[in-house]
Order: sequence, then C-alpha cells, then structure tokens
Amino acid sequence: MANVVLIGTQWGDEGKGKIVDLLTEWAGVVVRFQGGNNAGHTLVIEGRRYALHLIPSGIMRPGKVCVIGSGVVVDLKILLDEIQLLRQESGREIISQLVLSDEAHLILESHRRLDQARERQRGSAKIGTTGRGIGPAYESKMARWGLRLGDLLAPEEVLYKRLSALLEQHNLLLQKIYGEEPVAVDAVFGELKEAAAQLGPAIRKIPYAMAGYLEAGEAILFEGAQGTLLDIDHGTYPFVTSSSTLAANACASAGVGMKHVNEVVGVVKAYTTRVGSGPFPVELDDAVGEHLRQQGGEFGTTTGRPRRCGWLDLVALRYAVMLNGLDSFALTKLDVLSGLETIKVCEGYRLDGRVIDYFPSSIEELEACEPVLVEFPGWQEDISAVLEYDELPENARRYIAYVEEKLGIPAMLISVGPDRAQTILKYNPFQA
Ligand code: GDP
Ligand code: IMO
Ligand code: MG
Repeated sequence: MANVVLIGTQWGDEGKGKIVDLLTEWAGVVVRFQGGNNAGHTLVIEGRRYALHLIPSGIMRPGKVCVIGSGVVVDLKILLDEIQLLRQESGREIISQLVLSDEAHLILESHRRLDQARERQRGSAKIGTTGRGIGPAYESKMARWGLRLGDLLAPEEVLYKRLSALLEQHNLLLQKIYGEEPVAVDAVFGELKEAAAQLGPAIRKIPYAMAGYLEAGEAILFEGAQGTLLDIDHGTYPFVTSSSTLAANACASAGVGMKHVNEVVGVVKAYTTRVGSGPFPVELDDAVGEHLRQQGGEFGTTTGRPRRCGWLDLVALRYAVMLNGLDSFALTKLDVLSGLETIKVCEGYRLDGRVIDYFPSSIEELEACEPVLVEFPGWQEDISAVLEYDELPENARRYIAYVEEKLGIPAMLISVGPDRAQTILKYNPFQA
C-alpha cells in the first residue's frame, strides 16, 4: 500500500482537514505529526460541520486509526473535550480509534499563560499567536524540561517531581518577569491524574506501533498542520509557529523511515491567506481582499480572527514545492474565485528595482517586495456542484493548467466547496 504525506503549502488554512478526511477513505492510519491545538481543521460531511484542533481529520471515518505523533504538543483538556464532543456528535466511542505517542509533549496551564504574557510584552511587535501555549511548550521540550504523555503513566511521585521542577521555573517567570499569579502545582497535578485515567490505555510507543501498521500493509496518511511558510526554519521567522511544518518532519515525528513515503501532496488554496502578523507580499487591502474574505469565509477556525487575504503567490508556492519535495497538489477553494472579472497571480517579487524569483529569508527583504502580477480572465459560473474536470468553465481549467505548469507538478484534486462531496478527484495518490 502507498503512504502519503499531506502538508499545507502557504500560511495554513489551505483546507488540509477536508482533504485528509476525503483521502482517509483509502488509508488505514492517519497521523498528525506536529503542532497542537493552534490548528483548526474543518470537515463538512453531508452538510454537517466539524472543527478539529488536535485529533487527526480521519476520525470521522469509523475504524480508521488516528495517531498523535511524537512531534505534536498536546493540551490534555483540549484533547479530552474534543473526544467528548466527537462522541456526542458521532455517537461513537472515538477514543478506541486513538493512538497517542508517549513522547508527545504536554501543554500546561503555565505554557498558555506564558504565551499570552509574551505576546503582551511584545506589544505592537507581537507574533499574533493563537495563545494556546504552543511556543512555550516547544521551548520546554527543547530545553529538556518538558513533560510528556508517557509521564502520565509514571509513578505518581515521579510525575509530581517532574511537574514541580517545570512549574517552579514557569512560576518564577510568571511572577518576577510578567507580574502574574503563579500556577498551583496541585491543581495541575490533579488534572494530569484525571487525564491519565482516561487516556492511559491509548498511550503507546509510536515507532513500534507504526512498524506494526507498515508490516500489516496498512496505508498511512500523514496530516500536516499549519503551513510551509509558518515553518520554524524556512518560514517567515519570527512570524512563524514553533514546529517544523514540512513533509520531512512527518517521518521524524512518527519514527518511520523516509523510504516508506510514496507521495507528498501539498494543499494549495486558489488564493492566499494569513492569520496573525508578518510579511505577506500578495496581501490585498481592498474590495477584492474583502470579497475573498467574505466569499471564502476566511475567519479563523481556532481564534475567529479575520484572515488576511491576497492573490495566489507562485514565488512562495515554488519554494514550498522545493522544501517539501511535492509530487502533486490539491487545489482548494477554487469556487471562491467564481464571479471575479479578472484573477491575478504573483509570478515574481520586485525588490529594489529588479525582479527576483526566490523567497527571501529576511523579513525586512520580504516586506520590501512588491508582487509582480499577471492577469487572467475570470469565470462567472457557480462551480460548486461540478464533479467532472471537463465540466469546469474553460477559464477555470486554464487557471489550473497555468498553476500546474508554473509549479511543475500536477493537481491531484480540485476542491469546489467545503463538503467532502464537492471534490473533483483527478487521481488517487494511494493508487498512484
Ligand atoms: P485547514 O486548517 O487547512 O484544515 O483549513 P481550515 O479548515 O482552517 O480552513 C479552510 C476553510 O475552507 C474551512 O472552513 C473549510 O470548510 C473550507 N473549505 C475547504 N475546502 C473548500 C473549498 O474547496 N471551497 C470552499 N468554499 N470552502 C472550502
Ligand atoms: P492550521 O493547521 C493558520 C499562526 C498564528 C500565528 C503564528 C504563531 O489550521 O492551518 P502559534 O500559536 O502557532 O504560536 O502562532 O502561526 N498559526 C496558524 N495560521 N493556520 C494554522 O493552523 C495556524 N497555526 C498557527 O496565527 O501567526
Ligand atoms: Mg485551519
């Protein structure tokens, strides 16, 4: 069976959740490999909307194994709430589908509080984080003070000692630097013990579990969160998230060798959006930007913030093709472009009077870039019920062919609406 990695190619919210849910039909196992509940992945199945933050987007398909990999940071309260909500919505005990890495790090109350305190301290230079404690949780991990899911299974005194050591430092920071109340160790300890009782049976050593799935011939789908340009190394640093969002991290997080990946799919939204601060060369501060926001419902799934909108950016996308080694892309939200007289695409950046075709590393340089735009005639037809590629308006097909040519890879599907059914599948990456 083929194994597929699916990642976001822009600044997140490309529609990864919808595509993962769709492709899970052919997978046995779905693995979230990085990030935490900063993600908001939306699925619409037969008109019903589900918003997932931590649990892999394959969960709505009964019997599919959903893994939270070692590279994910887990807020236990959010995970338990999500399990509870999905139980109510689906009528199924979805916990039986979950497999959680014992190496995944925990997001605690103090991480959330530090995230918010740091953003306040940055003032107008704030990153615009989701405030979920993501950055501080990865800091604890890298500083080697973090608590992991596996610690929930340790003897109580060991867990208490580890928690106290971490909170002692966090409380010093919170009180002395940020002038805040400390976090009480006993209250957090109580929450951890409760979570351990509920989640304990799902906690596993993931590399061995993955080896077992591969051995059994299960097809594996790796689900990225955030997007390529939010990557900690190659994104628009410091306006990024704190994890590696690239395809290469899928294997590292799951403890699987890279030779097992057969296809890397990038999700490309037919235009570009960004939430939070940071450079965004194609941003539109005009009626067209507002049109995209309203037509595309571009308001955050996690924080409700309006998303910044702009045209498709081929400089950024070519960078994403290179960074992830993309084999193909899933083009989403093409329906949102319907009704526009002209559609523009950024082919290069103008910087200091010359045109560049690379994505700059420095944000000062990126901020100084002006997009070089080319124009396409739009289409007026509503395409949200189109199920065959050949039935798309000619101008829509020309737009897709142009993007394929410029990126040098084929579109494996076209999404024309939020519902699972509103999809034109060009080829199936599990059978490629
Ligand atoms: P993710 O974070 O990449 O999973 O994306 P989000 O779920 O945060 O944002 C994508 C939004 O667009 C969600 O509200 C989806 O329901 C919606 N969506 C996904 N694909 C399409 C599409 O092809 N057309 C339209 N109109 N909406 C879509
Ligand atoms: P999905 O998986 C869009 C952005 C935040 C902020 C920056 C850092 O739904 O595509 P963080 O809380 O991670 O420290 O915030 O990253 N961000 C996202 N933007 N989609 C996401 O996830 C995001 N996750 C984080 O807005 O700019
Ligand atoms: Mg999202």
